[in-house]
Formats: sequence, structure tokens, C-alpha cells
Amino acid sequence: MNKTVFITGGTKGIGKAVACVFAKNGYSPILTYSSDDKTAEECAEEIKSSYGVEVSVLRADSTEKQSIDVIDSYLRTSGKQLDTVVFNAAVTLRTSFEETTFEQWDRVFYANVHFPVFLLQKIVRHIVQGGNIIFTGSLMGIQPHGTSLSYGVTKSATHALVKNLVKFMQPYKIRVNGVAPGFVDTDWQKTKPAEIRRNIENKIAAERFCLPAEVADVYLMLARNRYFNGEIVKIDGGYSYK
Ligand SMILES: NC(=O)c1ccc[n+]([C@@H]2O[C@H](COP(=O)([O-])OP(=O)(O)OC[C@H]3O[C@@H](n4cnc5c(N)ncnc54)[C@H](OP(=O)(O)O)[C@@H]3O)[C@@H](O)[C@H]2O)c1
Repeated sequence: MNKTVFITGGTKGIGKAVACVFAKNGYSPILTYSSDDKTAEECAEEIKSSYGVEVSVLRADSTEKQSIDVIDSYLRTSGKQLDTVVFNAAVTLRTSFEETTFEQWDRVFYANVHFPVFLLQKIVRHIVQGGNIIFTGSLMGIQPHGTSLSYGVTKSATHALVKNLVKFMQPYKIRVNGVAPGFVDTDWQKTKPAEIRRNIENKIAAERFCLPAEVADVYLMLARNRYFNGEIVKIDGGYSYK
């Protein structure tokens, strides 16, 4: 029987690349997204036709509390058991420190930290014994950056969550790991002006952004290797401030 991978924010970018590499290896993906129905349907069709696996897409915005019930209800109704859960969806905020409101700060924390915790609380019973959870962290959660305070702090919290969850998931025989990508060429990055992209590339030893497929391979490795637990794997092409 096929294994199942559940990925939040799975219809574009890193999430989609992870869905593809798992599908190529026989997993059926369940993918959430926030608003772009058309791309979600196209993504499902593309993965189905390329890899011959069943694909489900589910609109569930992780900034909204009711999305936890939407996902839980889908899993209960479908009776699907999950082998790997990828908490990948995240939001950012690029207002200045002085202008940031409590509501804006709270929204980023809700989506990036509270949502996966309380979603996990609901769906842990749908994860098989021997299964695993992978969080998408960020280089920004390791190396402070001047772009978004709330984003950097929530990604550090994501890394701490990975390490702290290990003991709490042990009774379920579920492993927990994280991936901390540097700069990956997705829509998230593509809108950056050429000059800013060049500045970033100049700080990367690989001299380029990471391909989504390159980062996706790390998720598959973490799912397969049963001795990884509580680890944050950084993949940044050798980034350093120069
Ligand atoms: N790209 C990078 O350089 C980079 C580096 C480090 C970490 N990351 C992390 O990698 C993850 C994915 O980033 P990405 O670059 O792949 O982004 P992306 O290409 O913009 O794709 C985002 C995906 O997440 C969904 N999504 C966005 N907001 C959501 C929400 N509130 N609730 C549920 N789904 C949502 C999108 O669905 P819709 O299209 O429907 O909105 C889409 O499927 C994030 O956690 C990000 O922090 C990215």
C-alpha cells in the first residue's frame, strides 16, 4: 500500500517540490494551501499524471483557527493515516519595527508556531507509529537578519519546537526533524529586485539560490533515515555575511 505524506503549503515552491519527491517515491500527497485554487488543482493534476499516485488538495489557511478543524475533519472522514507530516506553510511580515502592530505580530506567530502545535495536537492520532514530522524552519531562524523580526523569531521558535517535541512524540513513536533552507528560488524569493538577489548570491559560496528540488531531497532523507530525531538540517549553499 502507498504511504501518505501530508504537507501544509504544498501546492507551490518548497512544499510542492517535497510533494513531488515523495510522490516519485510512492507516497500519496495531501496538500494544503491558502487561496490559489487554480494552482492547487493544476499541482494535483501534474503530480498525479507524473507519478501515478493519488493526490488530495485542501484549502486550509494556517492564519485561520477553523483550518485546524477543516484538516482534522478531512482526515477523520477519509480515514487516511499519515506516514510523514510536513509543517511547511508560513507567513512573514515586512513592516518596520516601529510600525508593527500587535495584531500583525500575533498573525505571524499564530500561523508559524501556534497553528502547527494545535494542528498536531488534533491529528497526532492519524500519524502511524514509526511515522515522522518535518518542520520547515529557515536560515533566518539561525542567523539574525534585518528583514522581518517576527519571521526570524518564529523560525527560531520552529527550531526549538522541533527539539522540544521529540520527547513529547516519543510515546507515539514519531520522530521530529526540521529543515532550515537558506535562499530557495520560489515565488517567495522571485519577487525580489535583481540587485537584492545579486547581493544575496554574492554571500553564498554556491553563488546561486537553491533549487526547490535540492531542498526537497533533504526532507525525503529525513523521512527515510530512522536515526534522525530532533535535528535541524541547514541547507544554504555555504551562506555567510561577507
Ligand atoms: N523560499 C525561501 O527562500 C525560503 C527560505 C527559508 C525558508 N522558507 C520557508 O519555506 C516555506 C515555504 O516557502 P516557499 O518559498 O516554498 O513559498 P511559496 O513558493 O510562496 O509557496 C507557498 C505555499 O504555501 C501556501 N501558503 C501560503 N500561505 C499560506 C497559509 N497562510 N496557509 C496555508 N498555506 C499557505 C501557498 O498556497 P497559496 O498559493 O494558495 O497561497 C503555497 O502552496 C515557508 O515556511 C518559508 O518560511 C523559504
